[in-house]
Amino acid sequence: MSHEDLTRHYRVDTGKMLDLVINLPDQIEETWRAMKTFKPPAMKGTAPLIVCGMGGSAIGGMLLRDLIQHDARVPIYLESTYALPAFADRSTPVICVSYSGNTAEVLGCFQNALMRKCPTIVVTSGGALADEADLAGVRVIRVPAGMPPRAALGALFTPLLGLVSKWGIYPVADEEIALAIRKSRKIAEKYSLSGDPVDSRALQLAKRIYGKTVFIYGGDGLLRAAAYRWKCQFNENAKSMAFANTFPELGHNEIMGWDCPERLRGDFFLIVLRDAEDHPRVQRGLEAVFRMVEPLASGSVLIESEGDKGRGGRLARLLSCILLGDFTSVYLAVEYGKDPTPIEKIDRIKEELKMEDA
Ligand code: F6R
Repeated sequence: MSHEDLTRHYRVDTGKMLDLVINLPDQIEETWRAMKTFKPPAMKGTAPLIVCGMGGSAIGGMLLRDLIQHDARVPIYLESTYALPAFADRSTPVICVSYSGNTAEVLGCFQNALMRKCPTIVVTSGGALADEADLAGVRVIRVPAGMPPRAALGALFTPLLGLVSKWGIYPVADEEIALAIRKSRKIAEKYSLSGDPVDSRALQLAKRIYGKTVFIYGGDGLLRAAAYRWKCQFNENAKSMAFANTFPELGHNEIMGWDCPERLRGDFFLIVLRDAEDHPRVQRGLEAVFRMVEPLASGSVLIESEGDKGRGGRLARLLSCILLGDFTSVYLAVEYGKDPTPIEKIDRIKEELKMEDA
């Protein structure tokens, strides 16, 4: 991409979200290295592992669930409300993730975890959560501050991977991480603006999506939360409306929504995310959905995760989809003339609730 094109990009992307997206593999590498010396408290038993978080701090837990659910020896339970589920007790490990450390929902769960004496670990860059954890003698994994939480995905997700590995819930080999990082770097290079823009699939996709409402469908497997990440990145970075759903569930309800009046679906764009190891029925189902919906949508694209088959390539495949969505959302933001970084309405909701609390 020419110097002028880059200047035009950064004139809109003043928070340099693009650089943070490019940085994802580095974040994972640095955090994995840092986790080597972290000694978590011993964890016994087979109680579900609870991971608490909201928004950009929740997505890491969701990706973890998708990555490990078929092999993990304990279930992962995701909590995105103000309180832990009733079953949480002193045998239930809890990880509280909040990038800012000031998210009310996570602070509520953290206090619950203390009261119920759950073995707890905190992942944060600081805030009240770090203070309260320090006061209570709870172990804190500190991540670098100063990023929008959704751009700190590598720093927030990798500790979870490190923890499940150290606890033997799902052992992760260094080689698996190294492979994912190598693959992600290549993909990030391809999607970045460093080469010919025609070669950036993300930029081309953003141009096709411009002015459309996006529906992202993934299989209920490795790419379930990846579809949701795409949606959230379109919402927060591109300030655009997007919806995510998963097959098989969507085949039992949402698919009928495409029979809506043409006036409405005229602006709908379908994105289907597929992984080679989705359940065979999920693969066939997604193909059928694509075939049925393509003529009804105003545009569509079928995206396959990239990477080796098998467990060793699973993380790389997952990240390949995350990166394409992240890049596309940033380019779409710039197409709309919107700075990807500010999230004014999210900040306002938090402020309003804080004022009511006081
Ligand atoms: C901001 C973002 C939000 C926050 C969420 C929770 O980039 O993605 O979804 O992640 O409001 O805040 P934290 O992450 O600070 O707990």
